[in-house]
Amino acid sequence: MEGQQADRAFMARALALAEAGRGRASPNPMVGALLVKEGRIVGEGFHARAGAPHAEVMALDAVGDAARGATLYVSLEPCCHHGRTPPCVPRIVASGVRRVVAATVDPNPQVNGRGLGLLREAGVAAEVGVLEGEAVRLNEVFFTYMTDGRPFVTLKAAVSLDGKIATVTGESRWITGEEARRRVHEMRNEVDAILVGIGTILRDDPLLTTRLGIPGERDPVRVVVDTLARLPLDARVLDPLSAAPTLVAVGPEAPAERVVQLREAGATVLVLAQSGERISLAAVMRALAAREITSVLIEGGAAVHASALAEGIVDKVAFFVAPLLIGGTTAPGAVGGPGIEKLADAVPLREVRITPLGRDLLVEGYVQGPLGSHPCSRV
Ligand SMILES: NC(=O)c1ccc[n+]([C@@H]2O[C@H](COP(=O)([O-])OP(=O)(O)OC[C@H]3O[C@@H](n4cnc5c(N)ncnc54)[C@H](OP(=O)(O)O)[C@@H]3O)[C@@H](O)[C@H]2O)c1
Repeated sequence: MEGQQADRAFMARALALAEAGRGRASPNPMVGALLVKEGRIVGEGFHARAGAPHAEVMALDAVGDAARGATLYVSLEPCCHHGRTPPCVPRIVASGVRRVVAATVDPNPQVNGRGLGLLREAGVAAEVGVLEGEAVRLNEVFFTYMTDGRPFVTLKAAVSLDGKIATVTGESRWITGEEARRRVHEMRNEVDAILVGIGTILRDDPLLTTRLGIPGERDPVRVVVDTLARLPLDARVLDPLSAAPTLVAVGPEAPAERVVQLREAGATVLVLAQSGERISLAAVMRALAAREITSVLIEGGAAVHASALAEGIVDKVAFFVAPLLIGGTTAPGAVGGPGIEKLADAVPLREVRITPLGRDLLVEGYVQGPLGSHPCSRV
């Protein structure tokens, strides 16, 4: 294997290594790196979590002096700024690495091509663009966060074959089977926050934690949009036995004593702007981004789904479709709100993927909308 073919094969390995940081590296990107000498991998690394060594440094540490003359493959441009850890570029230069191949430029404005430039200035051959599309897709969360300054948002719902998320009485447990529900917990394990409307809390009183039963699983921040601070003090999301933080977004009209009670019950209460009569979800996303929350899973209900799509904050949709017919004109569909008049105004999905999960199907796709201007949408 030589030249471009070898570059692609080694970069594919770097991308696979990067995966090990999924759900843990945030707010940093997932990054994988490897050192190659005479066609052989001599050292590997990945970025395990924010504050831990960067992938390049881990690979260099693994090989010591043997890095001299090697080629470094890295799934994202090496950094040149002081963040939680020192910059990687000086370390790479000092190691004697001869050539650096990066999959993509780092969209972080503090890097954004400067890392590669500094390597070249120091006499290291630096190239970019090998498996770039795959690398941007892998880090779609990080690219969205860096480029648009907002979290990457996935809208998730469990729906019957006739598109309902609950019966006419509001019962929704459980529309999907065990495998689909386990996949939801895997999704929770990978995101920084889950968001629901107060309607879902009042109806279902969900706990909204990750329950996979695996070592190191992580609970996302729970976010409730609740204009008038109606969240009951005995709601399970406020259970002191659960370590997951809960953030309640309320409007300016929320009664002050309710806000105090919720804070005393352990919630972080944010008073945010409204869009009409309800909390602006775009304002919620800005507030979450300011807290270094880079990804959000919206988990219902119908009213919140409708607002999220109308406000254009949704990047991806993940619907678990069950072979079940619920019926009922007043039973809620997955997306509430006023709806649209013309089919031409429907939200089209692209890059649709369908995965069978037991008796259910997971249908995923990217939302084509006004916010599709970040680099991921060009992949
Ligand atoms: N199958 C599923 O995947 C699934 C998932 C979740 C829920 N559900 C079902 O969905 C039903 C609840 O849905 P829902 O539509 O009644 O309630 P919802 O969407 O959970 O909550 C709606 C409420 O959230 C508040 N809110 C604040 N800001 C909002 C905004 N920007 N947009 C929309 N709402 C905002 C509003 O109350 P305030 O004005 O008082 O703030 C609104 O009435 C239940 O039956 C539940 O079982 C199903």
